[in-house]
Amino acid sequence: MEESKRIIPRVMLAPMAGYSDSAMRVICAKYGAEYTVTEMISAKAVTFGDKKTAALAAIRPDEGRVGLQIFGSEPDVMANAAERLSCAVEGDGFVAPAAIDVNMGCPVNKIYGNGEGSALMKSPELIEKITRAVVGATALPVTVKMRIGVDAQHINAVECALAAQEGGATMICVHGRTRVELYSGTVHRDVIRDVNKHLHIPVIANGDIRCAADALSMLSETGAYGVAIGRGAVGNPFIFSEILAALDGGEYVPPTLRERVDTALLQLRLSIEEKGEARAVNEARKQIALYLSGFRGAAKIRGAINTATTYAEVERVFYELLSAGEIS
Ligand SMILES: Cc1cc2nc3c(=O)[nH]c(=O)nc-3n(C[C@H](O)[C@H](O)[C@H](O)COP(=O)(O)O)c2cc1C
Repeated sequence: MEESKRIIPRVMLAPMAGYSDSAMRVICAKYGAEYTVTEMISAKAVTFGDKKTAALAAIRPDEGRVGLQIFGSEPDVMANAAERLSCAVEGDGFVAPAAIDVNMGCPVNKIYGNGEGSALMKSPELIEKITRAVVGATALPVTVKMRIGVDAQHINAVECALAAQEGGATMICVHGRTRVELYSGTVHRDVIRDVNKHLHIPVIANGDIRCAADALSMLSETGAYGVAIGRGAVGNPFIFSEILAALDGGEYVPPTLRERVDTALLQLRLSIEEKGEARAVNEARKQIALYLSGFRGAAKIRGAINTATTYAEVERVFYELLSAGEIS
């Protein structure tokens, strides 16, 4: 594969359903994320030509390099979806993805029960088949995202990652938890290190990275090529610049309050372009308010955003509280 086509990020945004939408990806790319991934997209829905699914797959040119994540369990359906998604979604100014990412980590009961997401880790053979089928259906690099196993008795990330590599994956991102652990408890960095030791393709380490120090210790303990940030980037896209500065030995200047507010509002405006004002303002409740979490006045902002229905209201609340010195 041409070097320019390889996806080998030092810092990337992890896929998050309900969060890693186009607006968030633009902002994260702006602050240094070298690769971002869409919310997971049902391969089956893609093959049915579902309209909502097409919206999830739309990528703007200012997003940088974006992987489109698909989930499913049938190699031919996954291949078909990958083929359809490898070009730009039809519409004004959208661009093609930089990679297809395959979800092998989703723990949600409904998905797991259908044999999709983390259930794929029960069968390394199926992992190899699916990866090979997807690789055969697209000229784009194919990346894989997995956990370390289904539960403590079945930690088989090395075997699963080797199967994905054998199938042709060009990079594997490992969230260092089992399906049963969901999102809590300690991240098993030792297992990520093991995966990295056995693979010749780049491994990206993921789980609980909230600051540059977390990223540096994750990299040194696992030997991984890079790190993926999920929850730590919600309301804090600045984490990518912080980590890059630490990696490059540069100085990191944290954002001012004004920059936090401006960035929150920019994300909301981008979201409105994507989803329309009513929906974007509604969804902003869970994401935009987090830009000020930990600051005095954050609760007031949250309360005000919870009742706002228009962009103008949200903007007014932010700037009024900021200029009155109520956020600090
Ligand atoms: C709300 C939410 C949605 C998620 N959706 C996805 C998804 O669609 N695909 C996926 O592979 N992982 C998904 N994840 C898992 C994250 O990509 C990541 O592996 C996990 O949150 C651990 O990383 P973090 O501690 O940096 O958040 C999701 C996580 C959260 C919290």
